[in-house]
Amino acid sequence: MADRARRGRAGRGRGGGGGGGGGSGGEKAEEKLTMDTFFNVGGGHRGESSPRYRVTVIGSGNWGSVAARVIASNTLKMPNFHHDVRIWVYEEILPNGEKLSKTINEANENVKYLPGIKLGKNVIADPDLDNAVKEANMLVFVTPHQFVSGICKRLIGKIKPDTEAISLIKGMEVKTEGPCMISKLITDMLGINCCVLMGANIANEIAVEKFSEATIGYRQNKEVADQWAKLFCTPYFLVSVVQDVEGVELCGTLKNVVAIAAGLVDGMDMGNNTKAAIMRIGLREMRALSKLLFSSVKDSTFFESCGVADLITTCLGGRNRKVAEAFARSGGKRSFDQLEAEILQGQKLQGVSTAKEVYEILSHRGWQSMFPLFTTVHEICIGQLPPLAIVEYSEQIANISSVEGVAQCC
Ligand SMILES: NC(=O)c1ccc[n+]([C@@H]2O[C@H](COP(=O)([O-])OP(=O)(O)OC[C@H]3O[C@@H](n4cnc5c(N)ncnc54)[C@H](O)[C@@H]3O)[C@@H](O)[C@H]2O)c1
Repeated sequence: MADRARRGRAGRGRGGGGGGGGGSGGEKAEEKLTMDTFFNVGGGHRGESSPRYRVTVIGSGNWGSVAARVIASNTLKMPNFHHDVRIWVYEEILPNGEKLSKTINEANENVKYLPGIKLGKNVIADPDLDNAVKEANMLVFVTPHQFVSGICKRLIGKIKPDTEAISLIKGMEVKTEGPCMISKLITDMLGINCCVLMGANIANEIAVEKFSEATIGYRQNKEVADQWAKLFCTPYFLVSVVQDVEGVELCGTLKNVVAIAAGLVDGMDMGNNTKAAIMRIGLREMRALSKLLFSSVKDSTFFESCGVADLITTCLGGRNRKVAEAFARSGGKRSFDQLEAEILQGQKLQGVSTAKEVYEILSHRGWQSMFPLFTTVHEICIGQLPPLAIVEYSEQIANISSVEGVAQCC
């Protein structure tokens, strides 16, 4: 069962000693944080009064801004934390000629990606990536997935050796040897441990403090995951932890492909039964592919917030659904790129690129016929099939059962 870090538990610290020298590998970093027990809320750090931990959020889009706001509300209450939370801003010039970073600092608001919401006085925008991470030992990665590799390249040799990371990014990189999840990319490139946080988290709703949940996936050290959970947990944002980093991350990634399918169905006014069918088939394909790719993936993860809950919210209200609906309404005549630019105004669509990445994996392994929904979504996105094809693969549905049979053996 997932362990939920509720508000009432936040004050319970564990005993801890002073930290040793910085290890650079993932496990070493986990051990160090476990010894330190740095989130000892209300308890202070043994023998020390000054804060030791500093958080930087890398990415200042819609979710990045909300994540910074949530974290900043908690660092104010945690004695081992520096109150200030730095947020790296990919600099942009606004229509009024001002720099986005300057405006965020002056207005305490990300006027482009999260208008109307104050971030908290302790959120500091910084357009200089090196400077933003220089003092930090806790990094929250939250950019669109296509930029992560480039950002990590710039960070090599620039971060503290005892740094812990968490990725809120949905997506993956496809390499010739197979899929590489973003958390693994961060670990491989920077030599630091990386948890993931995914869930039914439409950022604009969390920004106005509507109740929601999220799931943290960790690889080995539950205490590190628990500490991240406390940094994110608020009365309106409950966070569970599960030992299934790939399962959590694949849920967050693959559901965006299903959301494209849901949007297509909406755009053709097919109704609720059809949409529910698409969501159910999509969930089955998400689970089957995840388990084929990583035998460690657990069925129970699909019942956490990162699984079925995120799938539902994304298929009902997310940006992928919205743009796919517009695509279907245009009869497939307007491209996703055009519609993304027009509808999202600088925000990025993940589902179309993820569908392509998934398709590459499926075709490389000869699995297309076993994953008809994933395959069809990509073929519709590139104009090879019409939007209506999203409900025209009933013959192949039988194959999903055989995939699940294989998957369950893994
Ligand atoms: N928005 C949500 O509701 C939500 C919820 C959960 C997860 N996520 C995930 O969070 C991640 C970040 O999404 P978001 O909503 O914060 O961003 P966004 O789509 O709102 O904004 C795009 C961001 O990318 C930046 N950017 C543009 N070009 C860039 C470049 N060349 N290099 C680096 N950055 C560049 C922009 O400045 C902006 O900060 C994505 O993986 C997304 O799937 C989003």
